[in-house]
Amino acid sequence: MRDYPSDRVDLRSDTVTQPTPAMREAMATAIVGDDVLGDDPTVIELQNRMAEMLGKEKGLFVSSGTMCNATAIRAQTEPGDEIITEGYSHIYIYEGGGYAALSGVSVALVSGNMGIMEPADVAKAIRKGDGSLGHYPNGSMVCVENTSNRGGGTCYPLETMDAIAAVARENSCRSHVDGARIFNASVATGQDAARLARDYDSVSICLSKGLGAPVGSVLVGSSEMIARAYRWRKMFGGGMRQAGIIAAAGIYALENNIGRLAEDHTRARRLAEAIDAMPSFTVDLEQVQTNMVYVACEEDGADDLVSRLSGHGVDTLTIDDTTIRAVAHLHITDEDIDRAISAFDASQ
Ligand SMILES: Cc1ncc(COP(=O)(O)O)c(C=O)c1O
Repeated sequence: MRDYPSDRVDLRSDTVTQPTPAMREAMATAIVGDDVLGDDPTVIELQNRMAEMLGKEKGLFVSSGTMCNATAIRAQTEPGDEIITEGYSHIYIYEGGGYAALSGVSVALVSGNMGIMEPADVAKAIRKGDGSLGHYPNGSMVCVENTSNRGGGTCYPLETMDAIAAVARENSCRSHVDGARIFNASVATGQDAARLARDYDSVSICLSKGLGAPVGSVLVGSSEMIARAYRWRKMFGGGMRQAGIIAAAGIYALENNIGRLAEDHTRARRLAEAIDAMPSFTVDLEQVQTNMVYVACEEDGADDLVSRLSGHGVDTLTIDDTTIRAVAHLHITDEDIDRAISAFDASQ
């Protein structure tokens, strides 16, 4: 499918998707209210549906994945606490240090394998104020990213999800899933999203990535946690008025764009295997579990490679000096993957 106005193959991210005509139709005809006054029926429907899909009591619609994580952290920690998360997690690397600025918490980092933390390492990283003569911050929230973006789009095994939640509980920590792409994890592992997140206090889910909506994320959890998050969303300036216009895109995405994520995974796999077979590039195929392909190139070669690919009409993203990323999404067709493979071949 290609419903966006471009003859380029844009593999930079699954965030580049544009609302399709059917999604726009759903947005145009959405019944809206004033969500700050609590009467936008489309927002309410999206929140309820997402909460139900994740097996939680309540949902809260927010503008972005970053705001969703920030609100979740602020609602479940106190200033001076510490969160525990993986060293390449989005919360740590890509959210502007929001955890420190907005929640006043420090971070204990856990080394993961392809972004996946081991429960024992999480347990070791939790420091408690009590009994430390006041030395330690209070580790009070464990954040797990599934799928792990910088890990390569990797999925947590269900047992690991459960074991990390148990470690959090045993240590009186809240547990949060940055589930920006939890439906990718669900489709790839065959586990229901609610089951993956069963033992977690909160989950943030993005509508504007593989699901193809233009804007929005939903935070889900207990009624009591969402009530606190609701106040913090207000204080962060995140109350939106006729937000049903964008919530309608989210509902459309939930109804139409989850099952098809498997196609993105198949296309990413084909691209990854073809690139890895080229002498100039390496892809760790073990990492390619969903829609992302991280390509290793020669020393300091990443920017160069991105611009050579661009010359062939293929857009990718520099991650670091030796790594670029290509992501399959709902506008990427089999022909686009053929074109991308040819572009990589010509850019060696
Ligand atoms: C794992 C993960 N969490 C959170 C986010 C933040 O989402 P947003 O860009 O909507 O703020 C992203 C964005 O790519 C992400 O990959």
